[in-house]
Amino acid sequence: MACKRGALIVLEGVDRAGKTTQCNKLFEALQQSGRPAEMMRFPDRTTTIGKLISAYLENKSDLEDHTVHLLFSANRWEMVPLMKKKLEQGTTLVVDRYAFSGVAFTGAKPGFCLDWCKSPDVGLPKPDLVMFLQLSPSEAALRGQFGEERYEKSDFQRAVQNKFQQLMKDRSVNWQVIDASQSVEDVHKDIMNHSLKAMTCAQNQALAELWK
Ligand code: TMP
Repeated sequence: MACKRGALIVLEGVDRAGKTTQCNKLFEALQQSGRPAEMMRFPDRTTTIGKLISAYLENKSDLEDHTVHLLFSANRWEMVPLMKKKLEQGTTLVVDRYAFSGVAFTGAKPGFCLDWCKSPDVGLPKPDLVMFLQLSPSEAALRGQFGEERYEKSDFQRAVQNKFQQLMKDRSVNWQVIDASQSVEDVHKDIMNHSLKAMTCAQNQALAELWK
């Protein structure tokens, strides 16, 4: 490695836990402290595959459940060359959702097992840190109504939360649970502390492969 690599940092959580706000705050804080960082989000709706996913999420098209699962995964794989390049250049990537959302959302549908859901994402760049923004359904409800997109329904979100709990039992992934009911600033402080530690560790470790 020519220079010390950047860290792959992922934020996951149920809807309205504040993932996007916290990704932005982390990215800005890293940049302001002179650490090279970039933000990414999945699904990346700007690509050809991402546009198919976006139409599905907006209920403008229907796709078979296995098919859309594979499209979400393909949407991550198409970004892998860019992600690896950035990480090798020393840029830390702050990522809003990753393969864990893929598995939790499809796994919450009837007839899907976690192993099948994980398989297309096996071998993706493994995050150095995955922070799960934990918020109870009742606290989430206090934050207002769900939006109009396909998965924004409370029963389904509860099933998704259960799948995340199952995924978090996997000790091969560096999961950190963050209490998202705290103030935005306190959540940010927790996230910043975990991120700085993960960035220091990542500098001396090769990028690994997820679930392999
Ligand atoms: P967002 O753009 O608001 O984060 O929403 C994306 C939606 O897509 C959200 O409901 C979670 C869902 N999703 C999947 O079903 N599979 C995936 O792999 C990812 C990344 C998101």
